Order: sequence, then structure tokens, then C-alpha cells
Amino acid sequence: MNSAEIRESFLSYFETKGSRRVSSSSLVPDDPSLLLTSAGMVQFKPVFLGVKDLGFMRATTCQKCVRTTDIDIIGTTNRHHSFFEMLGNFSFGDYFKSEACAWAQEYSVEMLGLDPDRLWYSIYEDDDEAERIWAEEVGVPRERIVRMGAKDNFWSAGPTGPCGPCSELYYDQGESVGCGLDSCAPGCECDRFLEYWNLVFMQFDRAEDGTLTPLPNQSIDTGMGLERVAAILQGVRSNFETDILRSIMARAEELTGVAYGSSEKIDTSLRIVTDHTRAVTFLVADGVLPSNEGRGYVLRRILRRAVRHGRLLGRTEPFMAEMVDRVVELMGAAYPEIAEHHDLVRRIADSEEQRFSTTLRQGLAFLDEEISRLKEAGSPVLDGRTAFALHDTFGFPLELTAEIVAEAGLDVELDVFEAEMAAQRERARAAVKDESWTSFANAFNEIATRAGQTDFVGYERDDATATVIGLVTGGASVEEIAAGTAAEVVLDRTPFYAEQGGQVGDQGVLSSERGDVFEVTDTTLPVSGVISHRGTLTSGTLRLGDTVSADIDVMRRERIRRNHTATHLLHWALRLVLGDHVRQSGSHVAPDRLRFDFTHFEAPGADQLDKIERMVNAKIMENHPVRSYETSLTSAKEAGVTALFGEKYGEFVRVLETGNFSKELCGGTHVARTTEIGLVKIASEGSVGANLRRIEAVTSFDALEYVEREEAELAEAAAVLKVQRFDVSERVGTLVKRVKELESAKERVKENLSAQSIDALLAEAFDVGYQLVITRVPDTDAGGLRGIADVMRARMGGGAVVLATVAPDGGAPLLLAAGSDDAVAAGFDAGAVIKAVAPHVKGGGGGKPAMAQAGGKDASGVDAALAAARDMLGTPE
Ligand code: ALA
Repeated sequence: MNSAEIRESFLSYFETKGSRRVSSSSLVPDDPSLLLTSAGMVQFKPVFLGVKDLGFMRATTCQKCVRTTDIDIIGTTNRHHSFFEMLGNFSFGDYFKSEACAWAQEYSVEMLGLDPDRLWYSIYEDDDEAERIWAEEVGVPRERIVRMGAKDNFWSAGPTGPCGPCSELYYDQGESVGCGLDSCAPGCECDRFLEYWNLVFMQFDRAEDGTLTPLPNQSIDTGMGLERVAAILQGVRSNFETDILRSIMARAEELTGVAYGSSEKIDTSLRIVTDHTRAVTFLVADGVLPSNEGRGYVLRRILRRAVRHGRLLGRTEPFMAEMVDRVVELMGAAYPEIAEHHDLVRRIADSEEQRFSTTLRQGLAFLDEEISRLKEAGSPVLDGRTAFALHDTFGFPLELTAEIVAEAGLDVELDVFEAEMAAQRERARAAVKDESWTSFANAFNEIATRAGQTDFVGYERDDATATVIGLVTGGASVEEIAAGTAAEVVLDRTPFYAEQGGQVGDQGVLSSERGDVFEVTDTTLPVSGVISHRGTLTSGTLRLGDTVSADIDVMRRERIRRNHTATHLLHWALRLVLGDHVRQSGSHVAPDRLRFDFTHFEAPGADQLDKIERMVNAKIMENHPVRSYETSLTSAKEAGVTALFGEKYGEFVRVLETGNFSKELCGGTHVARTTEIGLVKIASEGSVGANLRRIEAVTSFDALEYVEREEAELAEAAAVLKVQRFDVSERVGTLVKRVKELESAKERVKENLSAQSIDALLAEAFDVGYQLVITRVPDTDAGGLRGIADVMRARMGGGAVVLATVAPDGGAPLLLAAGSDDAVAAGFDAGAVIKAVAPHVKGGGGGKPAMAQAGGKDASGVDAALAAARDMLGTPE
């Protein structure tokens, strides 16, 4: 059976056992405790925990998984993978051990056709029930059931969550495979007993502190390695020789020109490239992009390791994109997402490869030197600072550095590396928060503790009557401020929006009936829940407890609202036009403009930007309502609301819904209907980092002004061209074409002219013992003059010429004399002629008897110079 047949046979077998066939979930789990999906049970965790009900109790899946805990082993063995496919059957409080064991046996023997005499079974050390079931219910020989400890036979997806004892099925590949020791048995490190299926008896939920609480229901979670089963059925010793992986490897062989089986070193590199390409393809297709943290870093580590091993195999050109093609070709039918995102995956793989290639060579050279130095000094460890420098300067993931130094038999000083990384993070933090900031925050914390938080009423209103609950000036909390003081005012309630989520803070006025006026220039959120009005008291005195009227600058806020809703429209259109991988990575919403940063791997085309702008404006004209409501984060996510990647949200969130097409979590202020935005114009688009783009746009009055400026420019051009505005481009096109035509016509005229005049000039030749022409030729430069002289001499079949011209640009006079061998033999000396006549044009020059030239400063002397030449050479006037 090939891999596709095994997948299908497994899923349909378990369908006959009443299981629902469920698709593989994304490699990016919907679970903050996990970085990546590492097992089939991940998507069912809430079901095992009893917090989610799917409406069915039996499931079967083929799940894509990524595990990278032992990335440095991958490639050195026949069995380890970063990406692999796990076939599984699940019971959610339905069937338990008896059925799980019986079906595993039945499927192995009846469907896969495995020889029952080669099957072994491991059970958890004190699971007598499992032993009884295998021996008595399933009927397997007791001597092939082995007990193992928690390390092998107690399974959990991570430090916490559902877990339980397990039982594994092994296939004995026979004595000829493996270590050959008498002690060899299931669990041995060698390849003889191949563990291919793990049956987990889910019984507990493990808490942070390690305590086990029984689950509401006893459940089943199993995992069978597709690659391992394929290897058994296809009779090959290595997973890398099974149908899919072998074909991917074949592509690596073609691209590097080396063959599998040549040496252990080559095989290791081939296995790494083969394995890692699949992981890269599936990770990117599920939305992971290379970065320096989290999943992005896992991807980067894998990709860079593959690139390095490609180089070790002798490939110097980028190759990852072509490797990706093969993966998609082989697996795109089973996993349509990789076919759908094929282009994205190629581009990401390629750009990350290119980026790393530029530093890889330098980094390797640097590391090689370090390694030889260490070896000479007899030191076994590479110091952590060097490893950090490799990371920081050359982009070497720590694991890659460790792998390279391990190849030389050395270690990396991990603690110092970690300390350097921590120090770097600390520096980054310190850069944003200095000490004055801390004391500043203290003043606001004190206000919050004493007087409570600020109630924001600005979604519904533009003004409010409020009480002053805090006054801060010079970083200290005070009870009163006098006119002229720059300060921060905290109120119990306010319509002022504090800068957050990319939207700038409001401006406006706080005023009292007594006539105190505080002008607010910015509104911020110094600590959570406390809104601070920053500005200056322009008249009066403000005291704690005073009642003020808080009024925002309504026109300014109006413009901010328009820009903010416009960013949501832009986000929506960008995802539709450029693809779902587009994610907002930052935004700035000001009154006069908006900025929107997003992930994308290349510059969008002008046609795409036009389309985006048109779609946004269409949504504006369609006059959609904009609504907001509060809900729980869980139900917002279930409703498919777009949340920002990596953003922390509280339990309750505000959903901003525009029409029925855009739903985002957002705390900002927005228009009530899209027509209020008026018009959106994209003013610029550009790159602001790796895979990061920025759009700047304007709306309403600013968009109008933008269009007016463009129009004015057009009107000016039309006036200069003397055409209607709509004819400008046509006219400019015609003019550009005309200029080109004129230029080439000029060239042609020049060539023609010299050909024609040469005939005329030759007619002036006379005999002075050799044919001689002394004349002025049409304006040309030094090159043109030499050309004319050559043509004339060729046409004369010997003889000599003395020519003068004036360069067309600058008007400098040029003289040239040239003679054939015959003429020179008869006494013609070009050098002497030029030397003698050049002074007439205030110039100098010279040359040999056969050829000489001069340039001068005074073009009015050209005729005199030629006359002097005639005198000298004895020709009639
Ligand atoms: N969840 C179990 C495993 O990954 C089946 O081995």
C-alpha cells in the first residue's frame, strides 16, 4: 500500500467502527499552552476535558503534526521527523481499552496484513487490566507483552492537560535488523522492534503542580505513525525510503547532484533536507512566517538547517522553493491547503533562504576560525558570547551553531548564551521604560488605588460632567495646580479616548464654571484603567474634587473615526485581494491620515492597490452600518472575529462589525455608517521590514485635498500641453514618441549628410603628387571627424586630407590631418601640418606623419587654419 492507500484504509476501517471522519486541524493549535500541533488529540483536548461536546463520541483522523524537541537527531536516524502524519482513532467517553486493543490488533492483522507472530505489546508497568485484555480478550501470547515505566508508557501532550497510561504495538523486523544483542526487546534503541502505534487510555487531567485528577469520562486517543507503517508495508528499512519521502529526496538528489547511499554524511544531509522541506511547506501553509520567536522561530530554525545542509551537499543556488514544489505535487491532493498556498510557501521559503544565504557563508567562516582556535587551545566549549554573536549578527539559530560545533566534537556554553539573550531582551525593555517612567506610573497607580479608575463614556458622547480625581505634575501627584502649569488630569469619567490600539488620543478642553480652563493636547493610558488628560492649565486653579465639563475636539475626533473605520475596510480588502495570510501588524490612526502595517511577502502590484482602493470605496458608498458589542473572547472567536496576532485580550472584548463583511476585535471609536468616511485614497505603499508592508491613506477632507492636488497638477500639465485634462496622457505619449522619432531622424540625417558631403568634398581633390583634399566639413565631434577622414581616404584610394569642423555642442574647433603611406612617402606630414595651423584656432595638438589632430578655442579661425594648410602644401586657393 502506498501512503494514500494506508490513510484511506485506516480512516474507512474506523468509520466502520462508528467513528466520524474529522479533517486534520491546523498546525497552529487553538490552544495557548501549545506552540504547534504535535498529535492527533490536540484538536480534541477540550472534548477530553469535558468542556466541549462535538455531538459525536467516536472520531478518526489523519493529523499533520510537527515536533521539534529533538531537531538535532532528525536526519541522523531512519525514523525521526519534524513533520509527520498521525493516524488516530478517538473515543470521547465511549469505548475504552477492550475495543481499542481489539481493533488495533484487527486492523494490524486483517487490514494491513501484518504477521501476528511478529507483533509485540508494551503496557504501563502496573496496568494489569491491559495485560488481561491483550492476553485473554485479544488472545495474544503473554510472553510478547512487556511492561514499561512512565517514561515510555504514560502519555501526555505537554506538562498539563489530559493524559493517561498507554499501550504500544511493536513490529519485529527480525534478527537481521538491529543491534543483535540478547537483551534486545521492545524499547531497545535499535531498529529491530519498531513501535508503530500508541494507544492512550485517557484517564486524567494533569494540573500545573503535577496532581492528576480523573477526567469526567474515560477516553481513547491513539496515534499510528503513517511513515512507519508505510516503511513496514513497503518492506524498506527507513521511513525515508517510503513512497512520499523517497520522492521528495529524489528531488533533493537532482538539485544537489549527489546520490542517496553515497556516504552517511550525505545521507544525513539528504534526510534533513527531505524532512524539513515538508515541515516548512505545511507550517507556512498554516500561516506561520519566519521570525525570531515562537512558531516563527521554529520555522526559521528548520528552514535554516535545511539550507545549511543543502550547501553541505554542494548546492550553492537557492533550492528550497523547488523542493517545496515536489512536496505540493505529492501531498497537495490529501492536504489542499498546501496547494492553495503553494505560491506563498515558495516565496517565503525562497526569501528566507536568500536572507540566510547572505550571512551563512560569513558566519560559517567565523565559526570555523573559532573552532580551529578552540581545538588548538584544547578547549572543549564554544563560549556563549560567540554563539550569541552568531545568532545576533549572522542569524544562526542556537541549535544550528550547536550542531556545527558538535560535528567538531565541541559543546556550546549554554548558560552564557542564555544570559546574553536575556540581557538583550532586558536592554530592549529598558529602552522603552526608564526609571522616570516607573515613578510616573506610580503616581497614577496611587490615584487608581485612592480614587478608582476612569469610566470611559466616549463611545456614546463627546462631552461629560466629571470630577477631578487626580492631578500629576513633574511626575508627582499633587492636590492643586495653578495657571500656566503643564500637568496631567485624571477624571472619574471622560469622553476623551486615550491613545491605544493605534488610535491617537483625543484633544479638547476641561473647564469649570469658575472659569478654569485646561487645554488637553493628548490623552493617554499611563496605567491600565486610568485615563490621563495631558495639557496645560491656561487660566484659573484646578483642585482635586473640582467639577469640570470635559469636551473633546469633536471635528478632530470625527476625522479620527473616519480613519479608524477605514483601516478596518482596508484590512478586509487587503485580505481579499492579497490573501488570507495578510495580518495586521500595526496601525496608526490620526486625524489627518492613517497607516496600516501588514504581513505580505512582496510589493502589491498597482492593479492590486487600485482594486483594494476601489473595493474600500465601494463599501463606503454602499452605506453599511457600523456596530459594536461586547462579548466573551471565546464566543467572539467562535463567530470568526479577526483578532490581532499575538495581541493579549481580556475575557470580555469589544467586537466592531462593519456591514456583514468585517468583524474585528477593537476598542477604538468609529463612524456609525460607512458613508461618513466619504472617500479613501491610498497615498503610498512600501516595505517596512522583512515580509512587512505599510499603506498610508487619507479619508474624507484629506482625501478630497489629495485628489485636488492631483487634479491641479494635471490641470497645469494640460495647460502647458495645451490640451484637455483627459487628453494629457495621450498627448504626453505622442510627444514622447515624437521626441524619440526626432532623435533617430537626427542620427539618420547626420549619417546621410556625411555620406553626401563626402562625395562633394572628394570632387575638390587635386593632385600635388598625391590626391589631396583640404576642406571644412559639416559640424561634428572628434569621432565624426575621424570617421569622415577614414571614409574619404578609403574612397580616394590613398592620398591625404586636412579637415576642419566645429563640434556641435560647445562650438570648439577641431582639426585633423591624415595621409596614406603613398602620400607620406611623397612628403605629406600630418603632424607638421597640424602643428603649423593649430594656432589659428587658438589650439594645439599634433601626431604622426600619417595622422594628427588638434582641438582649439576659437572657431572663427577655422578658415584661416585651412588657408594656412593650403599655403603650406602648395595647392591653389
Ligand atoms: N497522542 C498519542 C501520541 O501522540 C497517541 O503518541
